[in-house]
Amino acid sequence: MTKRIGILTSGGDCGGLNAAIRAAALRAHHGYGWTTIGIAHGTLGLLDHPVTARVLDAKRLDAALARQGGTFLGSTNRGDPFAFPMPDGTLCDRSAELAEGVRSLALDGMIGIGGDGSLDLLRRLFAPTGVSFIGIPKTIDNDVPHTERAIGYSTAVAIATEALDRLQPTGVSHARIMVLEVMGRDAGHIAIAAGIAGGADVVLVPEVAWRLDHVVKHIAALRTQGRTSALVVVAEAAGQSDESPTPADDAPSRHGMGHWLSHRLAAASGAEARATVLGHVQRGAMPTAEDRLLAAALGVRAVDLLAEGKADRMVAWWNRKVIDVPLDKVVGRARTVDPAGSLVATARALGICLGDTA
Ligand code: F6P
Repeated sequence: MTKRIGILTSGGDCGGLNAAIRAAALRAHHGYGWTTIGIAHGTLGLLDHPVTARVLDAKRLDAALARQGGTFLGSTNRGDPFAFPMPDGTLCDRSAELAEGVRSLALDGMIGIGGDGSLDLLRRLFAPTGVSFIGIPKTIDNDVPHTERAIGYSTAVAIATEALDRLQPTGVSHARIMVLEVMGRDAGHIAIAAGIAGGADVVLVPEVAWRLDHVVKHIAALRTQGRTSALVVVAEAAGQSDESPTPADDAPSRHGMGHWLSHRLAAASGAEARATVLGHVQRGAMPTAEDRLLAAALGVRAVDLLAEGKADRMVAWWNRKVIDVPLDKVVGRARTVDPAGSLVATARALGICLGDTA
């Protein structure tokens, strides 16, 4: 009998999701003669009655799909089925209902594309169904452990770098400090990579404790060298260091970091400053070649793992190879920027201020 595998995308979207879905469905069809069922809106589709899902026709998955941003299946980063928000304000455990939805599809295997939080959730949701589950890592934050790359990160870094390329000339023209706030949740991977690639003067990440006065001094030193403008990248969760001389009560925890910093830098330096919050622009773009390549390699291998009878594993990219690791090694352990790692060392060597010294 023809095997049936399900596929869904969960959590925030990013570049490369469509390429991964396509790769998995093509591998299932051409490699094994299997049918792939695409589930709509992540776990939400499995809670519908009947479930919202459809057979993915391999003939219609042409290369154009791999070029498109977003996920044609839809996704959600809300509505945990273990604690689902109900209209009356209560939380309801709908995991058994979801398992029923999975059973109704008569699946032999399931592929979930998500970040570490989503993969943890999916793994726990699928365990009672008896359906083999394989995870594919994706997130612009690039904080999934045991993989050097998650799908979507390369695209986000490319967009943030391009934003710096565009902010630099306008900053010079108006002699302004240009602050770019990037996403990344609690990790500074996008900030440090884009900061180096885009020639930032200052990069502030959650992993390095920084002080506003160090940043101000660094920018003042640039002035003495004849520079009239500065490029500052701040990760959305860079927060405010405890050591900062400014009061903590007006510091934003995550949202609003860029504007807060820009006001503070303007007040402390006397220069004009402007903030750009890049936001979801980092997620919705045409994926880079690197993300499409990663998506293709991981999508194909995820199906191969199901064919080999494996379950509860995540495909990963390590030392230029596709590997797979047990999901229990991945969940609950976000991989943040190593303050002693190569990228931080590179930034320092280039004279980029990380805010821990001037
Ligand atoms: O995890 C991906 C991410 O884009 C984070 O970088 C960001 O903090 C968050 O999702 C934004 O979530 P939402 O789409 O709910 O605004």
